[in-house]
Amino acid sequence: MTAPSLPLVVVTGGAGFIGSHTVDRLIESGHRVVVLDNFSTGKRANLARWATDDRLRIEVCDVSHGIFAALAPVTAALGPVERIVHLAAQVSVVHSVANPLVDMQVNYGGTLHVLEYARATGVKKVVFASSAAVYGDVTEMPVPEDIKCAPVSPYGIDKLASELALDYYAVVHAVPATWLRFFNVFGPRQDPSSPYSGVISIFSDRARAGKGLTIFGDGGQTRDFVYVGDVVSAIAAALRDGNSRVVANVGTGREISVLELARTIVELCAGSSAITHAPARAGEILKSRARVDRLRDVLGVVATTSLVDGLRATLG
Ligand code: NAD
Ligand code: UD1
Repeated sequence: MTAPSLPLVVVTGGAGFIGSHTVDRLIESGHRVVVLDNFSTGKRANLARWATDDRLRIEVCDVSHGIFAALAPVTAALGPVERIVHLAAQVSVVHSVANPLVDMQVNYGGTLHVLEYARATGVKKVVFASSAAVYGDVTEMPVPEDIKCAPVSPYGIDKLASELALDYYAVVHAVPATWLRFFNVFGPRQDPSSPYSGVISIFSDRARAGKGLTIFGDGGQTRDFVYVGDVVSAIAAALRDGNSRVVANVGTGREISVLELARTIVELCAGSSAITHAPARAGEILKSRARVDRLRDVLGVVATTSLVDGLRATLG
């Protein structure tokens, strides 16, 4: 049954890892959702549960070419877009170092196209997936949002440029926006198939199969790994929040070294995967841990899933 009175939310990148969990939560909580995705890393299988449900529409669209054409038939049928969650992006830091122009076109260009649509059609809220990569190599841990950002990769630069664009559109064109700086997100449906994939998806996939794990560098680098369910809670809270120009870290406030992570995953798999080392990758930060007061105080969200519980859910 069509439910025309339910608010209409666009999720760019909605067929991806974080996007598909976001779509699940939005539909479950009474929204209609339009996914815009070019399926470069996203999969229809991630949205299979809604395949015959008309609360979900999927439009193939490359956000770096604009979103007006893809949304025109949708809004003609369903009415105006109320809110947008903008997740579509090239997500690998390492890929951005090798391909900075692609990263700029997709990650910064895509954000500008989303903002142009929001400005022209009066969208009530844009929530943007920014990244801890905007900070670069900072010494203050946990990292507060108001520290000087000094990204060390094209990916971090394009996320920061996108944040500046959101701020500009909020101030000059009255497009309400919240940008969330995700730390390292993990959980089911994170695709392990590319060398650029997230470390937990790669390690889990290989450890389950009894294959060896490769650590880039000495493994002393740390990350704040946050479970996807908690990230979706932050996105949902930001969509509801009536404030504009809010920036908040989305992490746990805890960090773990990549070496300790590898050992934990091998142990949880009760396996014997060898852990070896390869040279460190360019453009990567060394330490990362979120200050999470603002996430809690402004958006009312605390990332409660422990690393081990999240790893168990990921390993299945
Ligand atoms: P993902 O690769 O699973 O999802 C990205 C989605 O965007 C995919 O469905 C992909 O097909 C789509 N996409 C890519 N380029 C597109 C384009 N030009 N037009 C339309 N769709 C396009 O990755 P994810 O981990 O779910 O990342 C979602 C967002 O969160 C990204 O913006 C990413 O930068 C951000 N983020 C992720 C993490 C993390 O640890 N996973 C951390 C910080 C920020
Ligand atoms: C990740 C996200 C990025 C996000 C950022 C926020 C992915 C692919 N990247 O980047 O979108 O903005 O978090 O903090 O989701 N490593 C290994 N062996 C491997 C793979 C990785 O040792 O097989 C190491 C890397 O060298 C790095 C760490 O694990 O030190 C994390 O790497 P990765 O999962 O690629 O994430 P980030 O670069 O932190």
